[in-house]
Amino acid sequence: MRNEHVKTIEWTGGVVRLVDQTRLPGELVFKDVTDHRQLAESIRRLEVRGAPAIGVAGAMGVALAAAKSDADSLDELRSDVRAAAELLISTRPTAVNLRWAIERSLRVAGDESIRDRDELGRRLVDEALSICEEDRELSRRIGRNGAVLLSDGDGVLTHCNAGGLATAEYGTALAVIYAAVEEGKRVHVYADETRPLLQGARLTTWEMMQHGIDVTLLCDSAAASAMARGWVNEVIVGADRIARNGDVANKIGTFPLALAAHRHGIPFYVAAPYSTLDPSLPDGTTIPIEERSSDEITTIGGFRVAPVGVKVFNPAFDVTPAELVTAIITDVGVFRPPYGPSLLAKNRPSGA
Ligand code: MRU
Repeated sequence: MRNEHVKTIEWTGGVVRLVDQTRLPGELVFKDVTDHRQLAESIRRLEVRGAPAIGVAGAMGVALAAAKSDADSLDELRSDVRAAAELLISTRPTAVNLRWAIERSLRVAGDESIRDRDELGRRLVDEALSICEEDRELSRRIGRNGAVLLSDGDGVLTHCNAGGLATAEYGTALAVIYAAVEEGKRVHVYADETRPLLQGARLTTWEMMQHGIDVTLLCDSAAASAMARGWVNEVIVGADRIARNGDVANKIGTFPLALAAHRHGIPFYVAAPYSTLDPSLPDGTTIPIEERSSDEITTIGGFRVAPVGVKVFNPAFDVTPAELVTAIITDVGVFRPPYGPSLLAKNRPSGA
């Protein structure tokens, strides 16, 4: 396996440099973003996407807002920062990592020991850099914690893109695959194309091929057939938000995959940072589900495939009930049912 992993998002001297994921797999283009409004638009357009990566982007956006603000006083700067935070949080409602990272930055901004504008700006950059660096490190831990669940020769089916491109680097679901391959296991990846925006077809296959990992692309609707043929030993997906009872919000199409895995007796694993857990939600029914533009379904690559004016239902995420989730692989360990008590911080499993 080739070991270099692309840096999805970086802070370079007052500029946020991100891989423009709308251009992949055609070309690997880095885009420099200098303003938090432009960054909010990049998040909305999925130039940067994936729950952990948009968390990092959100914190960097808050730092950008402080750097570019022309506020005269510390109080004014704090209010500019709060307004930027609100805008950034509003871009994508489902992934809790975005809110989590921005709230971390806001706590820093509220620190009363900060004396002046420059200090506040520096502290926000430092916080964004820490969130980014922590994400790189915890992705490796997710990989190591999950790799033990894979055996040599396994076929692993995944959905959407929960790889390096969805995090600061390395990934969550794909981190488990990278780590297993680094341990010398042979793994064959089955990548769902992931309608409607094709993150699986465009990004997961690209990532796997960049690293020389065997990958087969299939339509989302072919997943159950691949399982029925005995090709799939595990399903591993990422998560945008996990409720206290273990219900998991992830890219639309994850829930039917879990149902199909259950029918075939195949383990269904979710890999995510522990910060993807939202302890304020008892179950998945209240997870906000982002609904996106109808154009994403009525057109493909700019070409209209459905009649003008047709009614459209286009949720970006679904919720998989905890009872279908075999285990949740995190940076702090692997959680198994019953998730309710085990997911609470004080009962974290050991072995992280
Ligand atoms: O709409 P996207 O591309 O941001 O959706 C991404 C997913 O659903 C991922 O599976 C999830 O964010 C986890 S990424 C490590």
